Amino acid sequence: MSSFKEKIDKSRLPKHIAIIMDGNGRWAKERGYDRIFGHQNGVTSVRETTEAAAEIGVEYLTLYAFSTENWSRPQSEVDALMELLIDTIERETPTLNKNNVRLMAIGDLSRLPGSASEKLQRCIKQTEKNTGLALVLALSYSSRWEITNAVKNICKEVLNGNLSIEEINDDIISSHLTTNTIPDPDLMIRTSGEIRISNFLLWQMAYTELYFTDIHWPAFKKESFYKAIYDFQQRERRFGK
Ligand code: FPP
Repeated sequence: MSSFKEKIDKSRLPKHIAIIMDGNGRWAKERGYDRIFGHQNGVTSVRETTEAAAEIGVEYLTLYAFSTENWSRPQSEVDALMELLIDTIERETPTLNKNNVRLMAIGDLSRLPGSASEKLQRCIKQTEKNTGLALVLALSYSSRWEITNAVKNICKEVLNGNLSIEEINDDIISSHLTTNTIPDPDLMIRTSGEIRISNFLLWQMAYTELYFTDIHWPAFKKESFYKAIYDFQQRERRFGK
C-alpha cells in the first residue's frame, strides 16, 4: 500500500505546522467514556504527530493544547487537563532529548498553577540545546490576549521614547508576540470537522494554508498528518502576489 509519506516531496516541506487538536470529548463520548478519557487518548496522537514531524523533517510543530477560553471549563476538567499536560511533558522529556526535540511554550504562562509552571520551565530548560524539531505548546494561549499584550508593550516603548509611532510596522508587531522567534505557520490543521480558527495565531496565519479534517484528535495518526502535508503540497501559494 503506498502511503502519503512516500508521496511527499521532501524538498518542499512546510517549515512550520500548527494544529488545533479538537474532538477529544466527542471521541470519548461516542465510545461511552468521559471527556478525560478522550484527552488521555489525545496524548497518543500528540506523540504520533511529534514523531511524524521529526521523522520527515518539519522544523516547527505548534499544538494548541489549552486556550485561555479553556479556563472556563468545569474545574474538574481543567484540573485533569492541566495534570495530564504537565505529567506528559515531564514523562516525555527523556524521549524528547533522545530525539533531539526542543520544547517551547507560548501563551499567558503566568496563569498556570505554580507547580505546573515550574515543571514546564524545567522541561524547556532541559531540552533547550536540542537542534531538531521545535515542539511549541500553546498553553493558556489566545491570539487576542497575545495581540493585546503586544499593543500594551509597544505603547510603553513609545511612551518612554524608545520607539516612534512611524517605526511601528509588521516586523515590530511580530517581534512583540510570544512567537517572536518562530516563523509563521505554513500549514494549519484542525481536526474534528470544525471550520474555524478559534483565536489561534490570528496575526501569524495571514498567509497560512488551512486544512480541515473530520477525524477526531485521538484518531489522528501519522498517515493523517502526512496526508495533510501532501494536500498542502498540491496547492499553489501566492502570498497575495
Ligand atoms: C480538544 O478537544 C482538546 C483539548 C482542549 C486539549 C488537548 C490536550 C491534549 C491532547 C492532551 C495532551 C497534550 C499534550 C501537548 C501533552 P475538546 O475537549 O475540545 O473536544 P470536543 O470538541 O469534542 O469537546
